[in-house]
Amino acid sequence: MKGILLAGGSGTRLSPSTDSLNKHLLPVYDKPMIYYPLSVLMLGGLKEIMIISTPEDISRFERLLGDGSQLGISITYRVQEEPKGIPEALIIAEDFIGTEDVTLMLADNIFYGQGFTTLLRKAIKDHQHATVFGYRVKDPERFGVVEFDHNQKAISIEEKPEDPKSDFAVTGLYMYDYRAVNIAKNLEPSDRGELEITDINKEYLKCNQLDVELLGRGFAWMDAGTQEALFDAAEFIKTTQQRQGFKIACLEEIAFYMGYISKEALYERGKTMEKNDYGQYLMEIADRKHHQQYWDSIDHHPMLGLVENE
Ligand code: DAU
Repeated sequence: MKGILLAGGSGTRLSPSTDSLNKHLLPVYDKPMIYYPLSVLMLGGLKEIMIISTPEDISRFERLLGDGSQLGISITYRVQEEPKGIPEALIIAEDFIGTEDVTLMLADNIFYGQGFTTLLRKAIKDHQHATVFGYRVKDPERFGVVEFDHNQKAISIEEKPEDPKSDFAVTGLYMYDYRAVNIAKNLEPSDRGELEITDINKEYLKCNQLDVELLGRGFAWMDAGTQEALFDAAEFIKTTQQRQGFKIACLEEIAFYMGYISKEALYERGKTMEKNDYGQYLMEIADRKHHQQYWDSIDHHPMLGLVENE
């Protein structure tokens, strides 16, 4: 399965902060926003990732993440000339996707919760045609909204409905087979002049090929697309990290525990930032004598089991 991170858009909702900097490079507490969705793709076991952003910003992402080899993955970059809609990412990445399945993720989405990695890996393993993730929210009218029948089967999806048929938002994490590229090519722009990802999901739903996985109340899902949401997300990350002493979405840590980079490489990377908390954290993990025991004790071990079994 290939991975795409969509990090373009106009970012007008966060202006003036985004007047000269792409939204997905803004910090969410102690690391750039894009670290969070990239960590999701990495935890899912995806190793070939394409980042799509604006002509002005793409080089900044490249400067931040390079070719991914320092994380043991491959990252390539493409430009979206104008924000013509989320499905355009699939068209831009057509040759990258080829005939493989693809996970498309919006780079302002943050997921966190016990069991998330396991759920994600299972969704990737079981994935057939299209899989999306639903999450209950207080303000469904801001999102794509999925409605269920009494057997919890999805029966409709609408984009930002004035009168939502349920409280379940469709999150910005989408898994498709390669046919999604052709579906995207045949879409018509919506009233707001964009291709809508909801229209792709509707196509799969029509053919009874859309799986909707619900994320329960134990999960946190945030889209950091407004000032308020960005601040809340930063506060959540800070509080959780400070309480537990673990970092959320620390890419080097994930690469290490996935077996992509060595303990020495992790330590060296930490040393380049030894004066700050992030660098010290990496060095501490590389030094940790009982790190396997620590990893065993939390949610991530089942994931490593899956990695080993593949
Ligand atoms: O976050 C989940 C929601 O994302 C879904 O529930 C909605 O169905 C989906 O349409 C989308 O809604 P948003 O209103 O959040 O979409 P927005 O236009 O803000 O774009 C989401 C991200 O994708 C944002 O980080 C910018 C990026 N983007 C967006 C467009 C339209 C691009 O890179 N290029 C684009 O052309």
